[in-house]
Amino acid sequence: MTQDELKKLVAQAALNYVEEGSILGVGTGSTVDFFIDALKASGKNVPACVSSSVRSTKKLQALGYKVLDLNEVDEISVYVDGADEINPSFDMIKGGGGALTREKIVASVSKKFVCIADASKKVDVLGRFALPVEVIPMAVRAVAGKLRALGGDPVERDFTTDNGNRILDVRGLQIVDPKAMEATVNAIAGVVTVGLFAQRGADVLLLGTPEGVKTFIR
Ligand code: A5P
Repeated sequence: MTQDELKKLVAQAALNYVEEGSILGVGTGSTVDFFIDALKASGKNVPACVSSSVRSTKKLQALGYKVLDLNEVDEISVYVDGADEINPSFDMIKGGGGALTREKIVASVSKKFVCIADASKKVDVLGRFALPVEVIPMAVRAVAGKLRALGGDPVERDFTTDNGNRILDVRGLQIVDPKAMEATVNAIAGVVTVGLFAQRGADVLLLGTPEGVKTFIR
C-alpha cells in the first residue's frame, strides 16, 4: 500500500470519532485533507468546525462547512489531526506543515485528540524528524543560538506561518524527555511554539498499516 492509501484508511477510520451535532476541531496536513474529504462523503452532521490553519479553513469552507473562530467557542469535543512523529506515550512532533501554533491551541481546548497517522510516523524516540519551532521574525538568530546550545542544528525554513512568523527546523535532537524539552524550548525568548505535543499529547492513535488500521488508546 502507498503512504497515501494508508492515510486514506486512517482518515476514514477517524469518522467513527466524529460526534454528530458537535463542533469539530480540524487539524492540518495531507492526512487531514483526506479526513475532510471523507467527512464530506460521509454526510455526517457537523454544524461547525474550528480549524487550525488557513489551509484547512479554505478546504472546509469550499466543501460548505461553517468554520468558527476559536473565540466563539468554549470547548471542542473532538480534535482530529495528523503528526510527523508519535511515540509510545502519545507525545508527538507536529508542524511539518507549519501550523503547529494553531494546532496546539485548538488541541488545548479539545476533550479528545484523535491522531491519524500512517505507520511511518510511529517511533520509539522522537527526533528523527526535524523539530519545528515557530519564532518571532526578529528573534530567529537569537533563538537559533539557544537551540544550538541545546545540541540542535536549526535551519530556517523558507516559509511564513499563518501568524506571520518564521519556522526553525531543528535536527539532531534525541528527545528522550518530551515534556521537559517542550518546556525548555517554549521558555526561550522569541519562541512562539515548539512543535512538541507532550503536555497535551494525543488520546487516541489511529495508525494506518498494511494490515489495516490499528487503534491505540491512552
Ligand atoms: C501540520 O503543521 C502538521 O502538524 C501536520 O499535522 C503534520 O505535519 C502531519 O502532516 P501530514 O498529514 O501531511 O503527514
